[in-house]
Amino acid sequence: MEVKEAIARRLSIRRYAESSIPSEHMETLFRALQQAPSANNGQNWEFVFVGDAEKKRRLVGACSSQSFVGSCTYFIAGVADPSQKWHMVDITIALTNFTLQAADLGYGTCWIGAFDENRVKAILGVPDERKVVICMAFGTPEGRHVAKGRKGFEKFIYQNHYGRRWSPNDLS
Ligand SMILES: Cc1cc2nc3c(=O)[nH]c(=O)nc-3n(C[C@H](O)[C@H](O)[C@H](O)COP(=O)(O)O)c2cc1C
Repeated sequence: MEVKEAIARRLSIRRYAESSIPSEHMETLFRALQQAPSANNGQNWEFVFVGDAEKKRRLVGACSSQSFVGSCTYFIAGVADPSQKWHMVDITIALTNFTLQAADLGYGTCWIGAFDENRVKAILGVPDERKVVICMAFGTPEGRHVAKGRKGFEKFIYQNHYGRRWSPNDLS
């Protein structure tokens, strides 16, 4: 699959089939995290992959009762050292790589920002000095999912100066 196809195919998946992920796919997905760029190549990221059913059940409560947290194959917590300036960016790039690699392999993901950090940390044993930056659900999609719309280029892409629209001729 080309990168542009993976980008187009990725969408948030909130219904998951019961499935296990072959280890070669997990290795490919871990590689996508590992290969991400990071500030000063600091690789200031750690990821807790939670497949344990009881822990996922408890995580539903820590994630605003979002039920798909309990049915995804892995709940992923993105953990970083918050004393590093770019920690949120680094984690986000790595997990973005992950979402595209997952789409390429036919899997689904959903970012989870609605979580209670202290509760997630307690359930997963994340040390006090670390931050859970963002979480993600991952697994095999179930059923049909509909892609959401996006703003047109003219709403957010400018040329040379803030607010100056990109001329349509420049794209031809
Ligand atoms: C930082 C961030 C936090 C998000 N938190 C949640 C969340 O807690 N629950 C959820 O269902 N979706 C969450 N989403 C997914 C967005 O709702 C979704 O990406 C957006 O609606 C666009 O839809 P799409 O991903 O299908 O293209 C989050 C996305 C991002 C980037």
